[in-house]
Amino acid sequence: MSDTQSIQPPTGSFDGYETSARPGEDPELTHVGPGNPCGEYWRRFWFPVAMTQEVTDLPLRIRILGEDLVLFRDGSDRYGLLHMHCSHRNTSLEFGLIEERGISCCYHGWHYDIDGTILATPGDPESGVKERVRHGAYPVIEYNGLVFAYMGPSSEMPRFPVSEAYNLPGLEPVSYSIDMPCNWLQVAENTMDPMHVAFLHSRDRDIHFGSTWGTLPEIEFHDGDWRMSRTQTRRLGDKIWVSMAETVYPSNSTIGYLWEEGTEEKYFIRAGLTKWTVPHDDTNCMVIGWRYLGDIDVHGKGRRELLGKQTVDFLGQTGVAPYAERQRDPNDFEAQVGQGSISVHAAENLVAHDQGIAILRKNLREGIRAVQSGGRVPQPPQDGSELTCYAGSTVLPIPRQEGRDDDQLVRDVARAVFDTIVSGDDHPEPERTTFIRTELKKLSSDPRFSGPKVAAE
Ligand code: FES
Ligand SMILES: [Fe+2]
Repeated sequence: MSDTQSIQPPTGSFDGYETSARPGEDPELTHVGPGNPCGEYWRRFWFPVAMTQEVTDLPLRIRILGEDLVLFRDGSDRYGLLHMHCSHRNTSLEFGLIEERGISCCYHGWHYDIDGTILATPGDPESGVKERVRHGAYPVIEYNGLVFAYMGPSSEMPRFPVSEAYNLPGLEPVSYSIDMPCNWLQVAENTMDPMHVAFLHSRDRDIHFGSTWGTLPEIEFHDGDWRMSRTQTRRLGDKIWVSMAETVYPSNSTIGYLWEEGTEEKYFIRAGLTKWTVPHDDTNCMVIGWRYLGDIDVHGKGRRELLGKQTVDFLGQTGVAPYAERQRDPNDFEAQVGQGSISVHAAENLVAHDQGIAILRKNLREGIRAVQSGGRVPQPPQDGSELTCYAGSTVLPIPRQEGRDDDQLVRDVARAVFDTIVSGDDHPEPERTTFIRTELKKLSSDPRFSGPKVAAE
């Protein structure tokens, strides 16, 4: 007989029952199918839908913004992106025959041009159905190894946006894409959650990138019209490392060199990757973009052979590792997919360092509502000029100073670096980069930051 008197529940205040009801998700920001507010918003931008290496001699079935589509390159080397189901009797065009011009359906041979014009209905040549029916098609642009689509109304089509970050001197953009089984927003938000770097990527049990990343950063976010940016700034010995990243709405992020340690003096050293988070549907998305290989990679960490479909050359971005391994050493994939298939914002408790998340959501919501009320979304300049990008790393030799709050000094330096980089906006490349670097070099001797230094670190 056991002594049941000795079996007692643990003491404490347990509120699981009282808090078990989960609020609903925020459909305005997360639902992307046709006709949904967020889906309509997304249909005002160019974004990548596949890597060119995925487009072979066969049609490629893809799912984007909740729509099933086929992407192909016809015999005249033109890309087509068509609604997947044939306009005759719905057979999938993924089984179609690629033609010199367009694609034809396997079932009864309806022949489509890349703009959805029906060129022939060979089993029924006389009825005129090909004049009456148009098949759904979207315009496509191939750029730097990615295939971009515009899925909105023709009257709202923006210019194809090209950032100077996409063609940085000394760097080669190499494409990759990774599917993630969760809503697009929680993946896209990660760039504006820099505090996670000091915990998720830098805990005792593993260091995912640089060993200095565990130092808690000073963070500042900068709101903008068509983009937002942030500085993540650390005091490392007698230096201050300012790392900048930006997100162009809705989800195009560029960040600095992934393995930056921040200990060597440097000025506006540029980007490690550019990526888009593109919704497949409400509960699936893909990260697609470029890793930049080349002279930025001072630690020799870039691995071209690991860049491609469902693979990238830094760990933890896919869910392929064994589950127990991912539990012991979680990374971005686990943190983002772990938020749930659609992260429930109403169940969060955002704190000060989550300000970037709040700004991102606010601006997305404003854009979504602008479309709903018949207005236009904020877009980058439409004058054909290249977009500037603020992402990069700057490490300044500015030691601690006598009698000065060092956290405030770090914040002041971060703001000065941001202002300096923004002040380059009026200069075309390559003068802009030269101008920014020259001005940044002046900061360490700027009277604002060059007081008497502390005797010993
Ligand atoms: S279903 Fe495609 S041609 Fe008939
Ligand atoms: Fe991360």
